[in-house]
Amino acid sequence: MRIVMVGAGYVGLVSGACLADFGHAVTCVDRDPDKIAALEAGRMPIYEPGLDALVAENVRQGRLAFRTRLHEAVAEADAVFIAVGTPSRRGDGFADLSFVFAAAREIAAALTGHTVVITKSTVPVGTGDEVERIIRETAPDADVAVVSNPEFLREGAAIADFKRPDRIVVGTEDPRAEAVLREIYRPLYLNAAPILVTGRRTAELTKYAANAFLATKITFINEIADLCEAVGADVQQVARGIGLDGRIGTKFLHAGPGYGGSCFPKDTLALVKTAQDAASPLRIVETVVAVNDSRKRAMARKVIRACGGNVRDKTVAVLGLTFKPDTDDMREAPALAVIAGLQDAGARVRAYDPEGMDQARALLPGVAFTGDAYDCAEGADALVIVTEWNAFRALDLDRLRAAMRTPVLVDLRNIYDAASAERHGFTYQGIGRVKDCTAGQAS
Ligand code: UGA
Repeated sequence: MRIVMVGAGYVGLVSGACLADFGHAVTCVDRDPDKIAALEAGRMPIYEPGLDALVAENVRQGRLAFRTRLHEAVAEADAVFIAVGTPSRRGDGFADLSFVFAAAREIAAALTGHTVVITKSTVPVGTGDEVERIIRETAPDADVAVVSNPEFLREGAAIADFKRPDRIVVGTEDPRAEAVLREIYRPLYLNAAPILVTGRRTAELTKYAANAFLATKITFINEIADLCEAVGADVQQVARGIGLDGRIGTKFLHAGPGYGGSCFPKDTLALVKTAQDAASPLRIVETVVAVNDSRKRAMARKVIRACGGNVRDKTVAVLGLTFKPDTDDMREAPALAVIAGLQDAGARVRAYDPEGMDQARALLPGVAFTGDAYDCAEGADALVIVTEWNAFRALDLDRLRAAMRTPVLVDLRNIYDAASAERHGFTYQGIGRVKDCTAGQAS
């Protein structure tokens, strides 16, 4: 299959490289000449484990190429994916579709022969209809089908998610287009990945419903964590106790400082707007958005309480800045709200992140960036773990305590346990884990 991927951002680049690895001939097109020049020189615009090697190997094999103009590649293609950004529109929270529609216009002008145009970007219900209208208006004679094929990749695990998906959703009612999509994903038959063929609007909504459900699951356990703190229970045991029920499942029940990233915050908001417009409001998702927003700032207050109610002129060391580990992505990262809250309360903030510091610098004025976790802890009155990088899971607690002025550990990801932190001389605060006063009473 000859495939064009329009947009060499996160989704486009990972999907393009993986499809090339399946054996297809893939051209990734991006308007940004600097990005294309960097990719041609083997430099990745994002940090994603394994991506550089995958790109290099497929370029070497002649299956993956990068271009700034799409005309030629689209003219020869069997399938063209639209994987451009859909940021939240300033002001109203709707997904900004201007890049998607611009791509559709450009693709339409270049179409020859039977081509399937596939939206991979996360787009609100009905966007496929508009993409099709734009293409038919620009190229009335084109032999084209417009399909929705949402992606379910997680940053940091994107290649594995692409190659071993739980499912592939294909939104089309056109049998020829369905056959093309089945051929594109044929290498995954070996992994028995189910392909769900649905209507186009159903596929578009499935993506939003999946992200909204996952965001709801996280927010639910976060509120249960707060209740655990109030009543003297342990959220990790509650999560396991409910998660082992197959109807609930153990995943996405890790309590923390609130979800962030480029997807959940944006997609939940866009879904809320779509639902309001359709006069079918999603009150649960509306609440999830509000609870999660206020939670991030509440985490700063939690740190302040752990410091005895006052952080003015105290030094707080923050470990982990990115919205989750194994990415350099700072979008909607809880660390941003936590640090702002601490600075507003008069704290001096030191920070360290294994990959996110370049991105973080511009977003976090007044923060002292440090060389590693121990350097970060130097002279601190509290150490706050905001992102659960593996590098923070087995720190030398004695060395950390020795570096600090006051040994307070606030672990917003529950990667340590209170008993061992206390053995090393720390005052420890996790999320939803107070000592259960009935522990040990039951036989
Ligand atoms: C998410 C979805 O998991 C992907 O399936 C989807 O394709 C992607 O959005 C997208 O729409 O593009 P991602 O944002 O990369 O992927 O990251 P997640 O691993 O889902 O984490 C999102 C946030 O939730 C992070 O801030 C993470 O720390 C938080 N989280 C996750 C928790 O607080 N607790 C959990 O149990 C799980």
